[in-house]
Amino acid sequence: MSDRSELIITGKPFAFDAERDAEFERLVKRYPIRESMILPALWLTQEQEGWISAEAMAYIADRIGTYASKVYEAATFYTMFNLEPKGQYHICVCRTLSCWLREKQEIVDYLAKEIGIRPGEISEDGRFSLEEVECLGHCGTAPVVQLNGEFHEEMDVDKMKALLATLK
Ligand code: FES
Repeated sequence: MSDRSELIITGKPFAFDAERDAEFERLVKRYPIRESMILPALWLTQEQEGWISAEAMAYIADRIGTYASKVYEAATFYTMFNLEPKGQYHICVCRTLSCWLREKQEIVDYLAKEIGIRPGEISEDGRFSLEEVECLGHCGTAPVVQLNGEFHEEMDVDKMKALLATLK
């Protein structure tokens, strides 16, 4: 797993594409205090790129008119923001109590065997990345898996296998 205190500097300039740019302009009108746009702008960035680079944080700060350090603080505080590139299919498995008690490890072990990666890794072809995350807030339907942000509940190895089959 990556050290969240280290940002990847790509040197590649970042800007919203036309769709996200329009969405940014639509959303920013809602907020009398522009800094309230930090979280929505981070979500737009992650939706576009799959992760949030240091360059993207600087871009967001410029667009909002705030300090890059404020954008950095928000991006590094919330664990749902990816601070490094992820696979085309980013799989998060909840590792907190309810999911742990309901055999989340079997799912992680299955994914490790099937895809060949452990939590914190990206497959060589870049298609898959796997991560164990803290409570996803759906404890009553544990174990819970997120695939590119979409929830899959009451998971088991068979359901995970079926879900992977839809991606191939
Ligand atoms: S413990 Fe897994 S969703 Fe809450």
